[in-house]
Amino acid sequence: MSRTIRLVPPSVARSAEYLDCVADFAGTAIDGAGIRDPQQPPIGERDVREFVAARLAEEDPTTELPEGWVHCTSRWIVDAETDEMLGFIATRHRLTKYLLDHGGHIGYSVRPSARRQGVASAALAIALTEAQELNIDPVLITCDEDNHGSRHVIEKAGGELEDVRDGKRRYWIGEGPRPRA
Ligand SMILES: CC(C)(COP(=O)(O)OP(=O)(O)OC[C@H]1O[C@@H](n2cnc3c(N)ncnc32)[C@H](O)[C@@H]1OP(=O)(O)O)[C@@H](O)C(=O)NCCC(=O)NCCS
Repeated sequence: MSRTIRLVPPSVARSAEYLDCVADFAGTAIDGAGIRDPQQPPIGERDVREFVAARLAEEDPTTELPEGWVHCTSRWIVDAETDEMLGFIATRHRLTKYLLDHGGHIGYSVRPSARRQGVASAALAIALTEAQELNIDPVLITCDEDNHGSRHVIEKAGGELEDVRDGKRRYWIGEGPRPRA
């Protein structure tokens, strides 16, 4: 089964779908969501409101961010037909030293019940188009050496492996000059 998806901005109006999606992860890693501790994701009404507001603010280049943070566009992945929420994807607008070595520009995760249906691949394709609009070229995407799913997703999208740093495979997509340290 292959799903048709779209990316939508985080929104309090989708709180019920968000809570259902987060529950599906059951405390496992939720990459690309802006959730620091997957064991304790924002689920209270006020926490969700603050979480959504923070994600939207982070996207705005005029927002002042704490030292070491970069602007970031967070999107929720939804099924284009049913509107079910399927996961998260986020694009960091520039690289810090940490992001250059480990985190990369784009992070994503798909809820366990929707995996292996082409969701991450489709979401990454859209995020790569949006990265172009943000003048990010080339795009760096990384994954753990043993993350076969993510590795497949990145390689299918055309990622070229540069190297492995501390167990992270580092892939570039795009023709622009690759930043060095
Ligand atoms: C990695 C992850 C995002 C993949 O999402 P997904 O929607 O299942 O990926 P897709 O369905 O687009 O799969 C793309 C390809 O990878 C393959 N694949 C997916 N998961 C796989 C796995 N666990 N092992 C081997 N191959 C896998 C698929 O078969 C598919 O190959 P195909 O096109 O040749 O059939 C998802 O497993 C996930 O959210 N994992 C936890 C969070 C995470 O690791 N995020 C990435 C951090 S770098």
